[in-house]
Amino acid sequence: MNTVFKPYSNDPTAGQASSLLTFDEKLSRSLALSVRATALVFEDPVSRHLLEQMERIAPSDATVLIIGETGTGKELVARHIHALSSRKNNTFGALNCAALSENLIESELFGHEKGAFTGALASKEGWFETAHKGSLFLDEVGDLPLALQAKLLRVLQEREVVKVGSRQPVPVDVRIIAATNVNLEEAVAAQHFRADLYYRFNVAMIQLAPLRERPGDILPLTHHFLKMYAERLGYAEVALSPAAMHVLLNYDWPGNIRELENAVHRALLICPGNVLRPEDFKLSGVRISEQANSISTSSLETALHRLFEQAPPKLFEVIEETVIRSAFEYCEKNQVQTARMLDISRNVLRHKLNHYGLLPGKQGKFTEKDVA
Ligand SMILES: Nc1ncnc2c1ncn2[C@@H]1O[C@H](COP(=O)(O)OP(=O)(O)OP(=O)(O)O)[C@@H](O)[C@H]1O
Ligand SMILES: [Mg+2]
Repeated sequence: MNTVFKPYSNDPTAGQASSLLTFDEKLSRSLALSVRATALVFEDPVSRHLLEQMERIAPSDATVLIIGETGTGKELVARHIHALSSRKNNTFGALNCAALSENLIESELFGHEKGAFTGALASKEGWFETAHKGSLFLDEVGDLPLALQAKLLRVLQEREVVKVGSRQPVPVDVRIIAATNVNLEEAVAAQHFRADLYYRFNVAMIQLAPLRERPGDILPLTHHFLKMYAERLGYAEVALSPAAMHVLLNYDWPGNIRELENAVHRALLICPGNVLRPEDFKLSGVRISEQANSISTSSLETALHRLFEQAPPKLFEVIEETVIRSAFEYCEKNQVQTARMLDISRNVLRHKLNHYGLLPGKQGKFTEKDVA
């Protein structure tokens, strides 16, 4: 049995990473456009534990810090905590700290007076005031500029905001739910994040496990998304083949729940019948069994992408020469070992070494004889 909750019917924007700030009442119009986040699925024991933790934390007014990889459900969990709290009938504001420019963010958070800066034609309330008596979700809080961190700390301590261009503090009563996918402790150690603010945020901490660590959620979530998207697309019931289940259960899900949701949506769009097959899920990442490999190849791919962008002449030769030269150096110029490591014949290796001028005493002229 899936444990499916309907915590908030007016939840138009969860999962929209680009949204700067969203308030339920302002965006209720877009509800019809949204298929995201109308329910939560908690099936794996890890998720059930998380649910209990949320239920314990929600009624208090404690600041919450949600930590999790991309797509693990940080915003959804924040909304759920708000929905379970006594503030549920007041505003839930969601602010993406990474998406605001440094000079805008202060007035966005705290508001400004008319004439406070060029373009401030009227006074405006900030998100803190708008979310008064409600909750404010500060997403990607690790990206908050240091100067703003100090001001935010002050607001949290004094429970009042001072608008840009004003000296008059305005009392605010807002519960902060912060989220990050970077390790804030490391950010504190690297002095990118204030330790005092970190401790303020970290009153109650919720660590969201990546999907691969809660495999019991994979199929219930798949069925949940299948139902949701099939309804939305006006499809009749669509089933999952046993082979597709196997593939989904053995995939690593680097993009977590968001990736699963997108995979299901895409599979529905391309599946010709009413049973989803493994090939309908175009899983771009890496299977668990290939994970070890992927770690090493992903940084290689990143480096290659940079080269593709620069597109130097004779790109393939540049890449091949780099591979041959670095392997040869790695094997301390031992041809037998280099050939074995690269899994090519010694003759081919000699030909390449010669071609790239890597053989001692030879200057990069390739002849057919070298290959023979
Ligand atoms: N427990 C859950 N049950 C059902 N759907 C979920 C659950 N958790 C997350 N989702 C869905 O997964 C998607 C990603 O969730 P969300 O946007 O909250 O993740 P996130 O951690 O904030 O992602 P990002 O780091 O990319 O901002 C959303 O569409 C959300 O509806
Ligand atoms: Mg998010």
